[in-house]
Amino acid sequence: MKDVVIGFLGCGNVGGGVWKLLEGFQKELAHRDNLSIRVKRVLVRDVNKARTCAVPRELLTTDVNDVINDPEISIVVEFMGGEQPATEYMIRALRAGKTVVTANKVAVALNWHRLQAAAQEHGVGLYYEASVCGAIPIIDTLNHSLQANRIQYLMGIINGTTNYILSRMYEKGEDYSAVLEDAKRLGLAEPNPASDVEGYDAAYKLSIMSSLAFHARVPFSKVYVEGITRVTAMDIACGKEMGYVLKLLAIAKRDGDNIEVRVHPTFLPGSHPLAQVNGSFNAVYLKGHACQEMMLQGRGAGDMPTASAVVGDIIHASVADVHVHPTFANTPDADAILTFEDNWTSRYFVRISAVDKPGVLAKVAGWFAKENVSIATMMQKGSVEEGRVPLIFITHEASEKAMQAALAAFDPQICTVDSMIRVEK
Ligand SMILES: NC(=O)c1ccc[n+]([C@@H]2O[C@H](COP(=O)([O-])OP(=O)(O)OC[C@H]3O[C@@H](n4cnc5c(N)ncnc54)[C@H](OP(=O)(O)O)[C@@H]3O)[C@@H](O)[C@H]2O)c1
Repeated sequence: MKDVVIGFLGCGNVGGGVWKLLEGFQKELAHRDNLSIRVKRVLVRDVNKARTCAVPRELLTTDVNDVINDPEISIVVEFMGGEQPATEYMIRALRAGKTVVTANKVAVALNWHRLQAAAQEHGVGLYYEASVCGAIPIIDTLNHSLQANRIQYLMGIINGTTNYILSRMYEKGEDYSAVLEDAKRLGLAEPNPASDVEGYDAAYKLSIMSSLAFHARVPFSKVYVEGITRVTAMDIACGKEMGYVLKLLAIAKRDGDNIEVRVHPTFLPGSHPLAQVNGSFNAVYLKGHACQEMMLQGRGAGDMPTASAVVGDIIHASVADVHVHPTFANTPDADAILTFEDNWTSRYFVRISAVDKPGVLAKVAGWFAKENVSIATMMQKGSVEEGRVPLIFITHEASEKAMQAALAAFDPQICTVDSMIRVEK
């Protein structure tokens, strides 16, 4: 039997889940893996706080040195969250010769190069499956199972809070702010949900996932980020009438040495596999040159789903003879041969309020045409109010810059642009 002694940095939602999962799994670990995993020390902010798991009081400490300087501890598991001090603690643990398992997307996305360098220098492992999409094994899939592929693109619903909000707005026609308040009450949104609803949570995860998919470091700073805070019930209802479902998508595409990475609200046709992913579920849809299209779907958050990924990493790290690291140049500045595209191609949903007069439609069509944006479909939604009528256009494929230029040319005396949402196939 191999005895592995581990230490926790943090013991909140995820840490509590990991404690419970390990506690109930010792028999299987002994029987299946010939392993015993014991938690020796647990770093927290407040040792007197009530915990969701039965961690004994004497294991708790507020001194990080009790975890990272303990010679018996070989694996440090981090679920404190935030960039600092988590990154510095993990680097100190790696330098002390301990393998690190983390659920922290912010620390990995922003400081991956430093963490990986410290791990490689000291011959230890760095595992982060839980940092992207909770229980879904997307990191391991990209790192191992799909190694024989050139991944052409991936698209993901990788934030459960925003997917819950958008699903409810779609199903019940509710307003964004009412659903957000309800999501907070139900514990499906944080009291301060900014990182989720403004798209940053998804962008951290996309930076990690796309780096592994494209074998090139895709810095967080290169991800275009737009959240769901301006999405209206009216947009969702109009899209629904035209056969589209609105999702906050994380999109990464590679064409030669050109990479585009973006997070924004996106209309998908109702028949797309991602359009069926509702509530707090996450999913990643990707295409490789050999595997072709595939989708992984599951729980992207929650104590036990996230613990599933963390404990999987702990078991793997405990039995691995060699710790494997990504082989691409892991530096914060992307490889010099890469370019990051900010003028991507998309179809667009545009909703305007136009003066109800003859000739207005021709003017609008002219502004689009001047930038080579052609209209695929047009719909009038609702009736004339205060002399203005709501019109919705879906365009054919156009470049982002052409679309922005066309919208900038719209004369507000004739029509105002109420929303512009990208549309994927
Ligand atoms: N929640 C999820 O469903 C989920 C899913 C995937 C990934 N993650 C990631 O997992 C990590 C943890 O999330 P969580 O929801 O478990 O957070 P949480 O409930 O807020 O727990 C954080 C824990 O870290 C401790 N902590 C924080 N800062 C500390 C400091 N400076 N010194 C000592 N202890 C400190 C806290 O101590 P006290 O308990 O004493 O306050 C608490 O135990 C984050 O990186 C998050 O992004 C979470």
